[in-house]
Amino acid sequence: MRLTVVGGGSTYTPELVDGIAGRRASLDVDEIVLVDPDTHRLRIVGDFCQRLLQHAGHPAKVLTTSSLEQGAEGASAVLLQLRVGGQKARRSDETFPHACGCIGQETTGAGGLAKALRTVPVVLDIAERVRRVAGDDTWIVNFTNPVGIVTRALLQAGHRAVGLCNVAIGLQRKFARLFDVDIDAVRLDHIGLNHLTWERGVHVSTPDGWVDRLPDLLGEFGDEVAAELGAPVDWMRRMNAIPSYYLKYYYAHDEVLADQLESPPRADVVIEVENELLKLYADPGVVTKPESLAKRGGAFYSEAAVQLVHALTGGGQPEEHVVNVRNNGAMPFLPDDAVIEVPATVDGEGAVPLPIKPVEPRFSGLISHVTAYEYLALEAALHGGRDRVADALLAHPLIGQYKFADRLADDLIAANRADLPWA
Ligand code: G6P
Ligand code: MN
Repeated sequence: MRLTVVGGGSTYTPELVDGIAGRRASLDVDEIVLVDPDTHRLRIVGDFCQRLLQHAGHPAKVLTTSSLEQGAEGASAVLLQLRVGGQKARRSDETFPHACGCIGQETTGAGGLAKALRTVPVVLDIAERVRRVAGDDTWIVNFTNPVGIVTRALLQAGHRAVGLCNVAIGLQRKFARLFDVDIDAVRLDHIGLNHLTWERGVHVSTPDGWVDRLPDLLGEFGDEVAAELGAPVDWMRRMNAIPSYYLKYYYAHDEVLADQLESPPRADVVIEVENELLKLYADPGVVTKPESLAKRGGAFYSEAAVQLVHALTGGGQPEEHVVNVRNNGAMPFLPDDAVIEVPATVDGEGAVPLPIKPVEPRFSGLISHVTAYEYLALEAALHGGRDRVADALLAHPLIGQYKFADRLADDLIAANRADLPWA
């Protein structure tokens, strides 16, 4: 099978290729095509990925190209993992909201909107060109942030797309380690939207069937879980759920903002990690995934990707994966065309959300609020216009005031003009 990675010059790509190398039995890949406009990075990352595979004894060939059409032709699945505007644009996303006392983050709040506005038109153009050369049946696996909004744009345009994030698989692994069981022995009752999720149950396989161990995670392991996710243990107990670490941008907004005002933006930290990684990748003596790759937030995204591509293309039994998928009534308080992040049954026909037990108001309020924002964000990304940008900002629970929405709309457009087709 040919697997194409758009944004293949990313320093993350070796993580993905390492995942493919280690799971030869579950995913039969013979060609990995890395597509990227940055030919310098493409060469370094491509050569390194080939060495990784060879060292692991995997026969797949790594091809590199700057031509999307060449790269996508004949692909069974196309992974999208791009960053329009690079880390420079990310630094702007992480800082411009501070002018209004709002957190700066690349997927949440005003920064997330800026990223959505830059990204949606580029991804839609790519998906259209992929469809032309690879055909209607090719699966698009979208890692491109903000995953919820970008996946919604793809589905709305009729693409065969599934959105993916590593937050769920990261938690699944952590819980498996705490309970000293295999990762497949853990199933999450994971609900919400991308980067806005809670675990309402953590089911562990036992000889007597599946047992919900959430009470142990909130009890015996509570302090450890709380420290890692930045949430107070008492609150998690009262919620009877584990919020993902992205919820700290809501539940601990002011503390996170205070920290941000005193620390360098994440973009600057990542630029340094990337330079370090590229030096290692360029060294012909380096043939395994470097330790410093673990300093990036995307750990284990390869595992999620390999499993999902396998389920979508393998023609085997349906599998359960946490993905970003059309709601279609799974959460009845949301529109059918909202994109939600939940466990779903995945096979060659796509992903269908598993039934969801009623969602308590302490979760459904924020989910609904952010879903409405995501709808308005996509309207702004598709049709442009300063007022649409301001409308989306006003609807965001972290902004919500006229004067902030007006100021941030103007600042966002000024900072991103080069990447906004309509501005
Ligand atoms: C997590 C998120 C990704 C995000 C990444 C950022 O993995 O799920 O959506 O892109 O963190 O990591 P970085 O190392 O770029 O800060
Ligand atoms: Mn993510």
